Amino acid sequence: MRFLSHLIALLSDSALVLRFVAGRSGAGYGIGRIRKLLFARRIFVNAHRVRSLTTWRQHLLLVDAVFRVPPATPGDVVECGCYNGASTINLSIACAMAGRRLIVCDSFEGLPAPLNDERAVLHASAGGYYKWERGQFLAEGGIDGVKRNVASWGEIGACEFVKGFYAESLPRLAPGPLVLIFEDVDLASSVSDCLRHLWPRLQEGCSFFCHEPWSVPVVALFYDREWWKREIGCDPPGFYGSGNGTLAGLTYSNMGYTIKVNPQRVIAEGESIRHQES
Ligand SMILES: C[S@@+](CC[C@H](N)C(=O)[O-])C[C@H]1O[C@@H](n2cnc3c(N)ncnc32)[C@H](O)[C@@H]1O
Repeated sequence: MRFLSHLIALLSDSALVLRFVAGRSGAGYGIGRIRKLLFARRIFVNAHRVRSLTTWRQHLLLVDAVFRVPPATPGDVVECGCYNGASTINLSIACAMAGRRLIVCDSFEGLPAPLNDERAVLHASAGGYYKWERGQFLAEGGIDGVKRNVASWGEIGACEFVKGFYAESLPRLAPGPLVLIFEDVDLASSVSDCLRHLWPRLQEGCSFFCHEPWSVPVVALFYDREWWKREIGCDPPGFYGSGNGTLAGLTYSNMGYTIKVNPQRVIAEGESIRHQES
């Protein structure tokens, strides 16, 4: 049984890499399949270099998404929540290859104090709960430690580091469009700060990746009509891919995302989609 689940994992990991390498992403940037194959290997190695809370599969998915942004769409990539910089290392390489800037936002002092109702958050499908505390996920060596890691294995030239808690730091970011946002910040209050300050700058058709698809309070935010009307002035975007319901042993990204679209435009100009009958 154990052998079988290892075999399934190996096959599904190979399929992930094959999909990345053989897919069209990167073509617009002149990034061919050989470079993608070599980069996939580097992503795997890099993901294990520093203590991390993300996986190489998630890095691969994010890199693929960076390469899928049309080159003509201007804007930076933002990462919120870098811890020791594992995801930052691989994202920085992707951004350098695509000629984009990676803005890395973190307190570099770990989580802020959680609100009372988010100190313990249920992860029902894992049969337990997360207990969040102020200072958790403090970067080893602080911001200098993260910079050292990115300088050693990533592309520090593509990065701009923004230190501070999001409620204060994100409103002070230099203005400009964004083409991809990746948040891995655990707390619903932190995710709401990211959405409040970054969503208005996300270009249409671009993605907001969320590392907490298992968290009811986080996912609920993406459907909270009142919050979106009050804070952003639009309807909630909803959420895709909560990463559950897969076959045992099959590996998957365990990340969720949403895409910024203008519903009126999609309905006026987009294609209507039909259910496929089997
Ligand atoms: C789970 S860790 C990120 C893991 C990282 N992506 C990796 O690859 O290992 C969460 C990070 O979010 C940051 N964070 C969470 N809420 C924050 C806030 N409100 N302001 C600034 N940083 C925050 C923490 O400092 C921590 O570095």
